[in-house]
Amino acid sequence: MSFDLVLFGGTGDLTWRKLMPALFQAHKHGTLPEGARIIGVGRDDLSDERYRAQIQARFDQVDLAKRPSAQEFDRFAQLLEFVSMDLSKPEHYAYLRDKLAQRQADTVVMYLATAPTLFTTIVEQLAAAGLNTPQTRIVLEKPLGHDLASNRTINHAVGQVFTEHQIYRIDHYLGKPSVQNLFALRFGNALFEPLWRREHIANIQITIAEELGVEKRGAFYETTGALRDMVQNHALQLLCAIGMEPPVNAHADAIRDEKLKVLRSLKPWSAEALAQDVIRGQYTAGNITGTPVPGYRDELGVNPTSHTETFVALRTEIQNWRWADVPFYIRTGKRLAGRDARIVVNFRPAPHAIFNSQAGAVNRLVITLQPRDGLELHLLAQAQDKRQHSNHLAPVQLDLDFDKRFGQERVGAYERLLLDVIEGRLNLFVRSDEQEEAWRWVEPILTHWQADTQGPRPYAAGTWGPSATSALIARDGYCWSEEC
Ligand code: BG6
Repeated sequence: MSFDLVLFGGTGDLTWRKLMPALFQAHKHGTLPEGARIIGVGRDDLSDERYRAQIQARFDQVDLAKRPSAQEFDRFAQLLEFVSMDLSKPEHYAYLRDKLAQRQADTVVMYLATAPTLFTTIVEQLAAAGLNTPQTRIVLEKPLGHDLASNRTINHAVGQVFTEHQIYRIDHYLGKPSVQNLFALRFGNALFEPLWRREHIANIQITIAEELGVEKRGAFYETTGALRDMVQNHALQLLCAIGMEPPVNAHADAIRDEKLKVLRSLKPWSAEALAQDVIRGQYTAGNITGTPVPGYRDELGVNPTSHTETFVALRTEIQNWRWADVPFYIRTGKRLAGRDARIVVNFRPAPHAIFNSQAGAVNRLVITLQPRDGLELHLLAQAQDKRQHSNHLAPVQLDLDFDKRFGQERVGAYERLLLDVIEGRLNLFVRSDEQEEAWRWVEPILTHWQADTQGPRPYAAGTWGPSATSALIARDGYCWSEEC
């Protein structure tokens, strides 16, 4: 199968940080179909050779394990070409059309890795140039808009030009191996399903903690913040994967229908809940693994009096029969105490304790996404301590290390998702109605913050966020998994 991948934003950050490394890995693993051509699009006037040299130089900043050798890069570079375009000029799209027509690839993928403000222009111009053929798929990177209205505008414009099954809205968290494992765990095994409900689960905690700050993206982050950057998409998609009903089959729409139902069942925000159940924070100077780092307001491109949040913690509920009254906590932030992404499912304690040290202990299922993919089941077992003659229990863990079982060379999120686009699998992409529902749900929080002059709570870099985050969960009688 031949295909052309056109990367709008071909000289941008995402291209060299994520997309090129992912495409190179797929090439190296032999999973990129034969007959691939990758066309970077950007404003600069670059020859193919210069573009290849630029991409090669950028690989120096990629993880060592994912860098190509000179020979490997030479082979990969044969796939790369460059087209200089002013995205507002119809004649430049005509040139692109002619270039694509020379080859008549079976599939053409248009990847929009530009600022979302350009999405509408690009799709309209693609249509005007006749580049929305049935063989074409379009990939839209997040953020897709900055609120419900702008999201709808983009979705509407794209929907005028492409049908929904041609549109691939990326949320790279859905491409992470642990998230696919979560689907496998829930819907490929019978073991957990009877327990996966309010009768047995006390609360669920979703944490996406990063050690990194905003890096060089201060200007972008200023108008985005953690709620739009992480909660509206990644965290809510994880919540859907945990909370959804078993789909009737594995088709994209069956899965997406169930995720949509979860989003529609999220507890609507009352004024009281907005005040009590959502915490926003902003990092101040601190230490990350022993190295001093500046506060958010001192980062490049950031307003020194900024109210942009770099941390969000919130409590919500899925209002349906399965989950009524079970709290779901979401927490995400930059410059936190560790690079640590996990979903913790806390089960209810045994109804009656007959062992010593059993009281209050709970079984816990932990799905880890970072720093490694894994799954732990925390249980109690008879302590094997010779001095203890009593019926004394101690915690043990069933620990499934997927890296060990399946090898280190796991398929990364972007690699997996790019191959899915090329092969036409929509399961791990977000449908427009899901995305709109997620915006609808976060919007009252954004409105509430706009009216709140207090701004985010400060937290020192290298901690777990504002102290109010512990209080949020303590109100329900629980604690974050690293605290208890
Ligand atoms: C991106 C956000 O979507 O996800 C970034 O824009 C964030 O701010 C990144 O750092 C986190 O992804 P990962 O895969 O590194 O956890």
